[in-house]
Amino acid sequence: MRNIIFLGPPGSGKGTHAEKISRAMGLPRLSTGDMLRENIRNGTPLGIEAQGYMDAGELVPDTVVIAMIRKRVLEPDCANGVIFDGFPRTIAQAEALKEIAPVDAVVNMTLADAQVVQRMSGRRVCPACGNTSHTDWMRDSICALCGAEMTQRKDDAPETVLERLRVYHAQTKPLIDHYAAQNLLHSIDSGGPVTETEARVRGALLT
Ligand code: AP5
Repeated sequence: MRNIIFLGPPGSGKGTHAEKISRAMGLPRLSTGDMLRENIRNGTPLGIEAQGYMDAGELVPDTVVIAMIRKRVLEPDCANGVIFDGFPRTIAQAEALKEIAPVDAVVNMTLADAQVVQRMSGRRVCPACGNTSHTDWMRDSICALCGAEMTQRKDDAPETVLERLRVYHAQTKPLIDHYAAQNLLHSIDSGGPVTETEARVRGALLT
């Protein structure tokens, strides 16, 4: 059993590096952001409730997110462990997670606020396969993996990014001390190239 959390501000590379570790360890990546966006796309009651919060850059209520995770981890692919991407995000979620799954390690991705804004403004996502890239690396707007047209997430608009950062500092950052006190925290500087960050994450988790 191996349960690993990826924690960090918006755009710090949680999704990018959680996905790489998910492949390396053969464990599913549970991104609460992706799960909520899928509910919005499918027009479920959960998606309808979540959309206003997400568009405004606020957190979706703890009860909604905790219930969603509690249900998901019961599925058979989670039996050997899970890579949590963007969950928990509040102390209340961390307390609930204790009852759901034991946490083995927490990767805290660190990135300065100015770099968060730069990365978010250039991020493009593929609506077909979920691939994420950045305009700095893209020759055109086509997904390098599946050929679909890459798009910009609605909550990557500059004013929403600033609100997401404010929410991160107020509600999620306290989790750093929470998990450090349990000796579970690995802080990784995510400010350099992806390959450098990837090597640091692998060094923390796979050696
Ligand atoms: P979510 O989708 O989780 O968004 P987030 O936490 O704001 O994180 P992002 O997905 O924006 O960024 P990331 O850290 O994954 O970075 P990425 O790898 O893409 O949540 C969205 C919303 O859902 C929340 O605002 C909230 O409303 C709701 N929600 C979700 N979970 C919730 C919860 N638990 N409780 C309540 N509400 C919840 O990388 C960013 C960009 O940087 C990419 O373009 C990437 O290519 C580029 N990049 C450049 N250099 C690097 C590098 N060195 N490493 C990695 N990426 C790099």
